[in-house]
Amino acid sequence: MSLDLFTPQGHAGREQLGAGTWLLRQRAVPSLAQLQAGLRQILRQAPLRHLTTPGGQRMAVAMSNCGSLGWHSDTAGYRYQRIDPLSGQPWPPMPAAFSALATAAAAEAGYPDFQPDACLINRYRPGDGLSLHQDRNERDLLQPVVSISLGMTASFIWGGLQRTGRSRKLPLYHGDMLVWGGPDRLRFHGVAPLQGPPHAEWGGKRINLTFRRAG
Ligand code: SIN
Ligand code: FE2
Repeated sequence: MSLDLFTPQGHAGREQLGAGTWLLRQRAVPSLAQLQAGLRQILRQAPLRHLTTPGGQRMAVAMSNCGSLGWHSDTAGYRYQRIDPLSGQPWPPMPAAFSALATAAAAEAGYPDFQPDACLINRYRPGDGLSLHQDRNERDLLQPVVSISLGMTASFIWGGLQRTGRSRKLPLYHGDMLVWGGPDRLRFHGVAPLQGPPHAEWGGKRINLTFRRAG
């Protein structure tokens, strides 16, 4: 597979955003075809759906999962579970190319033993955002979170350890990966309402994959 030297956003390379956080620009580009094919198959088995928050609100972002555990939310709360409540079946398995990429990126960011068992798939349409939150439903918070951005550019909100702490916004482009863990594992983060031009290949949406060791 050829590297896309003409990506409009240009910059590959890596940037350390915090003691435990690395932005790996364009790190997923060599795997895009495998990611796209894998996603198509997963979403046939476990379609994207709008979950309900514990407070009873419909989430704007549509979600699905692959891997042995899937993240779920309803009025009973946030949790991971083995069965997709929509199908009554286990979540589709995590493709080897997905887990290999997440493990490699985590190692490059200083987490050499990361073996994800959950991959949450988020789909944003223009106007959809994700409010500031911490990822804290996983059993072992020493394990990092690994994220892959696909499609339209996101404005990612990277906050502090307190909800009211200072935050910065950074663009996440198609093919970028972000890894956070260690002292940054419980940082607040979110996504500003999606805006801007549609992506040339993926159209008017952004897909984000987040890999976690949940169980
Ligand atoms: C998340 O926090 O679960 C998703 C973040 C993102 O979409 O970039
Ligand atoms: Fe999150």
